[in-house]
Parts: sequence; structure tokens; C-alpha cells
Amino acid sequence: MTALLSLENIACRMGGRHILNNVSLSLEAGECVGLIGPNGAGKSTLLRIAASLEKPSGGQVILRGGKASDLSPMERARRLSYLAQAREIAWTMTAREITALGRFAWGAPLRESPEDAAALEKALAETGAAAFANRLAHTLSGGELARVHLARLLAGNTPVLLADEPVSALDPAHQLAVMKLLRAKADEGRAVIAALHELPLAARYCTRILVLHEGAIAADGSPVEILKDKLMRDVFGVRASIEQNERELRIHLDPLAD
Ligand SMILES: Nc1ncnc2c1ncn2[C@@H]1O[C@H](COP(=O)(O)OP(=O)(O)OP(=O)(O)O)[C@@H](O)[C@H]1O
Ligand SMILES: [Mg+2]
Repeated sequence: MTALLSLENIACRMGGRHILNNVSLSLEAGECVGLIGPNGAGKSTLLRIAASLEKPSGGQVILRGGKASDLSPMERARRLSYLAQAREIAWTMTAREITALGRFAWGAPLRESPEDAAALEKALAETGAAAFANRLAHTLSGGELARVHLARLLAGNTPVLLADEPVSALDPAHQLAVMKLLRAKADEGRAVIAALHELPLAARYCTRILVLHEGAIAADGSPVEILKDKLMRDVFGVRASIEQNERELRIHLDPLAD
């Protein structure tokens, strides 16, 4: 099967430092990947490169078998959606108008087809943002605005979804709902990769965990294979108690010295 997204030997140098070293990965349809790693590990940089928003200093991004750099920005936007870690909106736009930006590659918001309108309404409903669709973005709470950005991500109906910390501003109920939604998007045949710091949520909803540590992939596998006490100590400097039953993996974190 052709991967929906592949990164081949990605390297990135910024500010005189190696930020990413030879990172390679392939995402297949149906995968919901949790990209985890400490602050500064390179997760956002990797997602920006995957979205072709930053040029790597080495390696290439492949979208369904073809080089992303050979595609126009519009063609890329029809294959892949990206949610940035920064959420601030400095313009006077409603939540619905921001969501409509997710349809840009199909012609909206200048010409909104019935298909655009349906995708928009669905994304607003799925993220629980319909109730404030007509509010101006700068009047929304942090979590409300985060869900509007997520609606924009989903409105494009793209095969690949890249989300940088999609649940970081959300309350517990919305964190669970959004992770369940991202997993459902993978289950319907998309490839999802989300940078996450919420390890219990990654354990519960991701089909695969990628650990980025100091710009390189330190581990890659199922949550059960990856989320182990040794890795938590080595990579995150925390102690983990992990309980597994046939239905789920539970993870509890403590400081190393306690
Ligand atoms: N434009 C830049 N110039 C210099 N260094 C940069 C630049 N952008 C990012 N970095 C550095 O690259 C490293 C990786 O940053 P990145 O934002 O990818 O980390 P991250 O894993 O997403 O971290 P976090 O969990 O805090 O969001 C950091 O040390 C950061 O300071
Ligand atoms: Mg980041």
C-alpha cells in the first residue's frame, strides 16, 4: 500500500543547530499517530516540514508517492491539512469564516458550494463549535478558539491531518472528545499525526506512538510497546506506572525524585 505521507531522511538546521537529524517515517491510511517528546524535541518543526511550511535542509516529503515540493500549494492543501501550535487570531473574523479557510483549496470562501457548506457545518458540529460559529474569533475563550481551528483542520476533508497539540487548551471532556474524533478520522481511512503532551490520551486513542527526542526518532510502535517506564525515564525524566488490561492502557506519571 502506498503511504499517504512519507518523510524521508528529514534534516533541519536552524540557528546554527541541528534541530532534526535524519527523521524518516511513513503514515498509512487508518493510522492515528501520537508524536510525543519533550519541549524542544522538534515535533512542531517536523510537522511544519511535513506540511511544506518549512523547507528541510535535507531529505524530502512525499505525499501519496509524489514529492510534495512538485505540487502546487493548492494541490498540497487538498491532500493535507495542518493545525499550528499557535492559535492567536489577530483579525476580525467569525468562527465560521475561520473554519471556511479549511475549504480554501476548493474555492471557498469566495464561492461556497453546497459541498463546502456541508463540510463546514459538519466540522463545526463535530468540534462542538457550531454554537459560536457566528461569534468573532477574538471574543472566544482559548478552548473555544482551539476547537474552531480544529474545525478548520477537519473542514478540508483531506486524507492527511497534521495537528500540533490539538488538545492542549481543552478541558478534560473536550480533550477526550477531540482525541476520539481524531481516531475516528483515522478509522475512516485518513492518516492522522498529532503532537501531544497528554500521554494518557495518546495511550488511549493512538494506534501508534512516535517518540521524538533531541531531533531524532527514539522509538516507534504501538502504545503498549512504547509507553514503558524506561522510555519515560530516559526521554521525559519521569517515572511511569503502567497498567494494562485487555481493554486499555493506563499510565500514571510521577517525578523521578519523590
Ligand atoms: N526559527 C528557529 N531558529 C532557531 N531555533 C529554532 C527555530 N525554530 C525552532 N527552533 C528550536 O528548535 C527546537 C525544536 O523546536 P520545536 O518547536 O520543533 O519543538 P517542539 O518539540 O514542538 O517543542 P514543544 O513541545 O515545546 O512545542 C527548539 O530548541 C527550538 O528552540
Ligand atoms: Mg511544538
